Amino acid sequence: MIDLLAPHPRTVLGHWPTPLEPAPRLAAELGGGTRIWIKRDDCTGLALGGNKTRKLEFLLGQALAEGHTTVVTFGAVQSNHARQTAAACARLGLRCELLLSRSVPRTDTLYETSGNVLLDGVLGARVRVVDGMDETLAALEEIGPAFVIPPGGSNAVGTLGYVAAALEFAGQAERSPEIGGVDRIVVASSTTGTVAGLLLGLEHARLPAVVEAACVYRPADETAAELDTLLGETAALLGVEPRAGGRSVRDDWFGPGYGVPTPEMTEAVRLFARTEGVLLDPVYSGKAAAALVGMVRSGEIGPGETVVFWHTGGSPGLFVYPDVFTGR
Ligand SMILES: Cc1ncc(COP(=O)(O)O)c(C=O)c1O
Repeated sequence: MIDLLAPHPRTVLGHWPTPLEPAPRLAAELGGGTRIWIKRDDCTGLALGGNKTRKLEFLLGQALAEGHTTVVTFGAVQSNHARQTAAACARLGLRCELLLSRSVPRTDTLYETSGNVLLDGVLGARVRVVDGMDETLAALEEIGPAFVIPPGGSNAVGTLGYVAAALEFAGQAERSPEIGGVDRIVVASSTTGTVAGLLLGLEHARLPAVVEAACVYRPADETAAELDTLLGETAALLGVEPRAGGRSVRDDWFGPGYGVPTPEMTEAVRLFARTEGVLLDPVYSGKAAAALVGMVRSGEIGPGETVVFWHTGGSPGLFVYPDVFTGR
């Protein structure tokens, strides 16, 4: 196979490959004869892990190659991407500036001081909470010259991290005869780099699994449009054809909004924790897990299918939603 990624600078930040584990107790609990595996990208090894480690290997590879010493990125107050960027910058000796916005309808002290945002500070990043474009532009002006990473690390370069992830996964699946064929991969989708990279990488590896993208940030039509744009840009960077099919983008488990808990998310977080000892998060992986649970229970994911839940991390978010999880 041609090494698609060789021309692109990369700096190793994670522990690879992340584990691919069977989830037999979860599968038995859901019934229906579906085989469930979990790809543990919550275990990437960088400051509590998560999907952004993979994107940052390419983004910061580019920043180092271009000689930058300061990195700026954006996210919600509880952004996992911001936490991972702070950790990666610490490790590489880069100055990290985080411009965080109030994208979730919460302003309580716990939300603004604990979980990911607490870790951002511990990791040595400078955190500014900015409201609106004017404040963002003023902060950028004050910071001065910097390598700017878009929200979620989702540009074509960051997406290469998930092309690499798909190739890693295809190799694991090939080496594990017990997994058999993989019919579907269920994964959370926000800024769409994770899904775009998986689709391009699976195509290159000729692994015909359908990617079920569970929207957690925007409705399905907007997420799909953003995904198509990013697929086109990343395919152009790699010099390959963008992949058209093999995916479904759904917002049935999105609920009232980004970062707003749903009963299905709460149940799914408990189920994964109590059957497999796996911690999800309330904003991303918990809603994607609700999608998996819903599709198995409704029979949409049928008996005899093998489905992989791609765990994208985020568990520090649990600590800022105590009211949703305590007492039950
Ligand atoms: C824990 C977690 N899961 C999933 C996602 C979604 O990934 P993407 O933005 O690539 O769609 C993110 C970030 O947005 C995240 O922090």
